[in-house]
Amino acid sequence: MAQSLTRSEPLQHWITVGNHLLNHPRLVLLKNVVFLLVLYHYWGRFYAKVLVGGPVRALYDLRDTIKKNLKCADWKGGRVSGTIYHGGDELTELLAEAYRMFAVANPLHPEVFPGIRRMEAESVAMVLAMYNAPSTGCGTMTSGGTESIVMACKTYRDMYKDLKGIRDPEMVVPITIHAAFMKAAGYFNIKLITVPVDPITYKVDIHRMAKAITKNTVMIAGSAVNFPHGIDDDIVALGQLAKKHNIGLHVDCCLGSFIMPFLEKAGFPTTLFDFRVEGVTSISCDTHKYGFAAKGSSIIMYREPKIRKYQYFLSADWTGGIYASPSMAGSRIEAIPQLHVIGNPIGPVVSFGSQASMNIYDVGDKLSSRGWNISPLQNPPALHVSVTLLWTHSADQFIKDLKASVDDLVADPESGKGGTASIYGTAASIPDKSIVEDVAASFIDLLYKA
Ligand SMILES: Cc1ncc(COP(=O)(O)O)c(C=O)c1O
Repeated sequence: MAQSLTRSEPLQHWITVGNHLLNHPRLVLLKNVVFLLVLYHYWGRFYAKVLVGGPVRALYDLRDTIKKNLKCADWKGGRVSGTIYHGGDELTELLAEAYRMFAVANPLHPEVFPGIRRMEAESVAMVLAMYNAPSTGCGTMTSGGTESIVMACKTYRDMYKDLKGIRDPEMVVPITIHAAFMKAAGYFNIKLITVPVDPITYKVDIHRMAKAITKNTVMIAGSAVNFPHGIDDDIVALGQLAKKHNIGLHVDCCLGSFIMPFLEKAGFPTTLFDFRVEGVTSISCDTHKYGFAAKGSSIIMYREPKIRKYQYFLSADWTGGIYASPSMAGSRIEAIPQLHVIGNPIGPVVSFGSQASMNIYDVGDKLSSRGWNISPLQNPPALHVSVTLLWTHSADQFIKDLKASVDDLVADPESGKGGTASIYGTAASIPDKSIVEDVAASFIDLLYKA
């Protein structure tokens, strides 16, 4: 035992010396510096690779995946009807910047975002002026044409329940009115009565409209211009009907948006369609169409605040506080003998059908195979082009391709058989339209299948 203690003495000695050296203030300083350098080195790598590099890499990966997987039609080449109304790079940059600036803004809280409230109020005021509203004119912003229309329908339902005690509301609309009215009828339990259009002018038949109005009618509507054929209904005549029956008249200018108010100034022949027509009580105008704003943005205007108040949703006793919310929180054709333009469109939409010997849907499929994306219409069968800024650049090519498509079908009528013609042909031949609706519902189901 004594011997082993003696043997460990030198070891103890060197341990003491070593500790002494290691705890020398200069060495401690050196150790700390080395530690910090190592930490800095690894933190830098961690920061670059995980904290910053990770999200940035993820963003690039996401962009690549989107580019690879989410293909879209050649809208930049101006081959798409409507849908993207400007599409220029500079404007897209501006819109992206605006989105970035307001990505976290919440218009439901004007007290937190007073600037947003002001922007919305000024946008509404600007569009009211474009549509010649009286000084009492007012409105709100919505997420798109559909929401603006749906809101107007809810407004008249609630207003005439209150003012006239109407419990089974009805609306009378042209057959060519936008499907948003059908949606509103379904959502709000309003009976929808559609009225045919004149077979020559394609404007709603005013005489039949007058006959369809009953004591339960809360509103009528017309378009300036409509989606299918770009036709403006006779708003002056509709205004007289609305006044006579003391009901709402909504004018759908969602598509006519920033074109219709300027036609007169630009020297094109127009008839009155805005608030200058006495019976007009509301108008919808989409800022996200020919107003070139980002999707989704639209404006619903009313002649006076006492109508608009019925649009609002108010809940005074909600546990979360008093809740008040204003809305719902979406070419010219040269003479080609086989084709004819429907009606006399005055705005940016043109629709055309074909003579009986040719199926217009076959013409559409031929155009699709040439890279065009043109909307099919029905009752009667037709195609429609909603002219955009991008589209104007390729208008000449469109005419060429349209002629070539017709020529193909003249040369070989069988070459176009199938596709769209068979879908619409089959749909038209099924008397029970609920079957067609079931198929359409399955189509939407499929769209949401990841
Ligand atoms: C005449 C008309 N009204 C309403 C709408 C609906 O607008 P949104 O698609 O913005 O809901 C459209 C859309 O094209 C339209 O053309």
